[in-house]
Formats: sequence, structure tokens, C-alpha cells
Amino acid sequence: MVDIRPQQPEDLEAIASINAAAFAEHGGTASFDRFREERTDIISLVAESGGKLLGHVLFSPVILDTPDGPVNGMGLGQLAVDPAHQNQGIGTELSETGLAQLRETGCPFVIVIGHAKYYPRFGFEIGAKNGFICQWEGIPDDSFMVLFLDESRRSELAGTARFDGL
Ligand SMILES: CC(C)(COP(=O)(O)OP(=O)(O)OC[C@H]1O[C@@H](n2cnc3c(N)ncnc32)[C@H](O)[C@@H]1OP(=O)(O)O)[C@@H](O)C(=O)NCCC(=O)NCCS
Repeated sequence: MVDIRPQQPEDLEAIASINAAAFAEHGGTASFDRFREERTDIISLVAESGGKLLGHVLFSPVILDTPDGPVNGMGLGQLAVDPAHQNQGIGTELSETGLAQLRETGCPFVIVIGHAKYYPRFGFEIGAKNGFICQWEGIPDDSFMVLFLDESRRSELAGTARFDGL
């Protein structure tokens, strides 16, 4: 039984460990981003079971530069699950909980840079096919994705998306 709850300051060390373990397995170097963690306009959730943290997801602000001006959205990342507990639905629960919260707040879109086979299950689509351009060059087209939380705004949303402060 996994509980999804907002991250508390005392969770930081465990989150860093989970990220190090999760990304090391895939040869990555990513680590928990304390810069973004210090912000108040983020959603940071942990998955806990029996007093142990098993996963973490962070959503942070993104600005989309549209021809009509900037539009605020969010970016998913990083998402990490303890390697010993992967493929048990924890990443899905963390992502869906955060996305549901964002939908309630009226957030129009969420971007992610990640596994092309994982994120479509939440409704993410290839950014390039929807007029979304990543702030960083060299990201494969199928790894940069967008989820429209407010379908009525889909047609007005296109441009370069950048993580605020990064
Ligand atoms: C990717 C990750 C967050 C998924 O979380 P999880 O709790 O293991 O996944 P879930 O149980 O919610 O979902 C399982 C599904 O994810 C798929 N999946 C797991 N890791 C994957 C990966 N690296 N790439 C693509 N799909 C992946 C599984 O094949 C499974 O697919 P199925 O439902 O079609 O059988 C987790 O495996 C992880 O932390 N990986 C290492 C760090 C990482 O890559 N983070 C994401 C950065 S984009």
C-alpha cells in the first residue's frame, strides 16, 4: 500500500538517494534539483510505504512563448522510483496525482522530457507535432512531449517552452 503525499523538508535526503539510484541504473547523471525544490510554486510529491520513501515526482513552472505572449504551464520532472520497487505502478500514481492537482488549478499544459514509451499513457503527445519547441537543442523529437490539460486552449498553445529559472 503506497501513500502519495506532498514532500516535506525532511524528505530531501531520501529523495536525493532515490534519484541517484533510479538514474544511475539507466546510466544517467541526473540528481534532485534543489534549486527548484526551494521554490514555492512547484508540486513535489513522494510515494511512501511503511515509513520508507519509494518514489518522487516534481512539477515546476514552465513558460511558453506564444506569438500572443507568454503562457504559464508546468513541466514534469524529475520522476524517479526506487529501482527495487519499479514496475509496480508507483510512477503512474505519482504522475497521475500531480496531473490531477494541476488540472484542478486550471494549468493549461504540462511538458516532459522523457521516455517516449512511458508518458503517452498519461496523454502526453509529441511536442513537435503540436508546435511545441524545447528550449534545449538536441532533444529527440519523441522525448519532448506535451499534455494539454485544457483542451479548449490547445489551438492557442504553441511556441518555445522553457523551464522557469533553468
Ligand atoms: C520510469 C519510472 C519513473 C517508471 O515508474 P514505475 O513505477 O517503475 O512505472 P509504473 O509501474 O508506473 O509503470 C510501469 C510501466 O512503465 C514502463 N517503464 C518502466 N521504465 C521505463 C522506461 N525506462 N522507459 C519506458 N517505459 C518504462 C514499464 O515497461 C511498464 O509498462 P507497461 O505498463 O506497459 O507494462 C521508473 O522506472 C524510474 O524511476 N526509472 C528510472 C528513472 C527514470 O528514467 N525516470 C524517468 C525520467 S524520464
